Amino acid sequence: MNNKYIDLIDQTYFFPQEEFTLENEHLKFHDIPLKVLVEKYGSPLKFTYLPKISENIARAKNWFANAIEKNDYKGKYHYCYCTKSSHFQHILHETLKNDIHIETSSAFDINIVEQLKKDGKLKDSAYVICNGFKREQYIENIARLINNGHKNCIPIIDNYEEIDLLSDAIEDTFKIGIRIASEEEPKFEFYTSRLGIGYKNIVPFYENQIKDNDKVELKMLHFFINTGIRDNAYYWNELVKCLKVYTRLKKICPSLDSLNIGGGFPIKNSLAFEYDYQYMIDEILNQINITCQEADVPVPHIFTEFGSFTVGESGGAIYEILYQKQQNDREKWNMIDSSFITTLPDTWAINKRFIMLPINRWNDEYERVLLGGLTCDSDDYYNSEQNMNAIYLPKYKRDKPLYIGFFNTGAYQETIGGYGGLQHCLIPQPKHVLIDKDADGNLTYELFSPQQKAEDLLSILGYETEKSVKKTSDTSINNKITSNV
Ligand SMILES: Cc1ncc(COP(=O)(O)O)c(C=O)c1O
Repeated sequence: MNNKYIDLIDQTYFFPQEEFTLENEHLKFHDIPLKVLVEKYGSPLKFTYLPKISENIARAKNWFANAIEKNDYKGKYHYCYCTKSSHFQHILHETLKNDIHIETSSAFDINIVEQLKKDGKLKDSAYVICNGFKREQYIENIARLINNGHKNCIPIIDNYEEIDLLSDAIEDTFKIGIRIASEEEPKFEFYTSRLGIGYKNIVPFYENQIKDNDKVELKMLHFFINTGIRDNAYYWNELVKCLKVYTRLKKICPSLDSLNIGGGFPIKNSLAFEYDYQYMIDEILNQINITCQEADVPVPHIFTEFGSFTVGESGGAIYEILYQKQQNDREKWNMIDSSFITTLPDTWAINKRFIMLPINRWNDEYERVLLGGLTCDSDDYYNSEQNMNAIYLPKYKRDKPLYIGFFNTGAYQETIGGYGGLQHCLIPQPKHVLIDKDADGNLTYELFSPQQKAEDLLSILGYETEKSVKKTSDTSINNKITSNV
């Protein structure tokens, strides 16, 4: 009978795959022996495989180069990394090995940009595209960056007041973009995204606030579809609507020469994942060519801001199955040694799917299970709703430890989960290991952060521990209040 876990995978998917292979009955991910990794560092454990970041950037650049050639496209392509998907220095340093640009979303991002420039990682000529709703600190930081000479910083105007705020803070002339507020998919609870400026208002906005403003040069139209770059009627419809705005604006605004199509490239979330990246890019450039030709305007340079696509496939999380609770004759709960809510928050918040596979025991019989996290929250689970099919794992055996891995978890999970901060039910944040390749192609390992300790959490909570810094009370406020009285 074919009842081993490996048989199940063989019958359901093409396996092995490029990044997933087996050695004996142990899983390897990009040649990383995961069982050895977990034996060395222990579980739970998060890891980042840095080379995958550069690999994905190269893949995207290559698809765009092919599409430019195929469509005889006259514009250039610029790859920006959307920092909010993972702000860590090791991630930024890896991305910037590939001569790319940066997209920011809030004030402190600019401090990161300044640090990267100081460290010689980000070129002075790199584009820094500043998205997001801009208030005092963000405006101040953008202005400082531009006033210090970073001419290729392009704030993307998200609301009507931003031009005045920036004009007051920036000494010289500066470039801007405008974000188009896309119409949401019909099933969504809102009609129009809160981000950006509505389609119909873009041309009047240009006429009223930009055209006669000598300080401002409009360079870019920005367009981001929340649901990503998908081959469906909604995406193509929104793209064409955006292109119509571009051509209308280009006719009255000669400085406009760039179109930013945002992020939204999907990543592999199942062993059955299929997506034709090359076709999508070919077709996007084809649509731009057609619309611009019809309107008789030159095609724009293209910018993208891939976040998930850049870092998502570099990350993974490994847990041990601690125990099995059989709650009735159909439901077996395999309890992991951490929490889904805190370590993979998207599984809980937006029902996101990740690839989940056992790390060891592939030659053992399998069973259908539910996966539960350690917090006392009933939502701390991962089940078949998130994981395309029901979850099957090698049978739980008390004396044979079972480890499982979640893969392609490298985007957004750390920042949304509040890395280094408080964790639900105080389940500590796992250790994090960075994996790279040396000049000879050998894998290297570095512990980036250990597992959180009790004193880390107690100190955040205000308890006096050896770790907590003595707080100085702010008497100046009291003095002010007393003197006013
Ligand atoms: C303006 C903008 N650009 C880029 C991205 C990155 O999207 P993704 O991670 O899907 O590539 C986002 C994500 O929210 C965004 O809001």
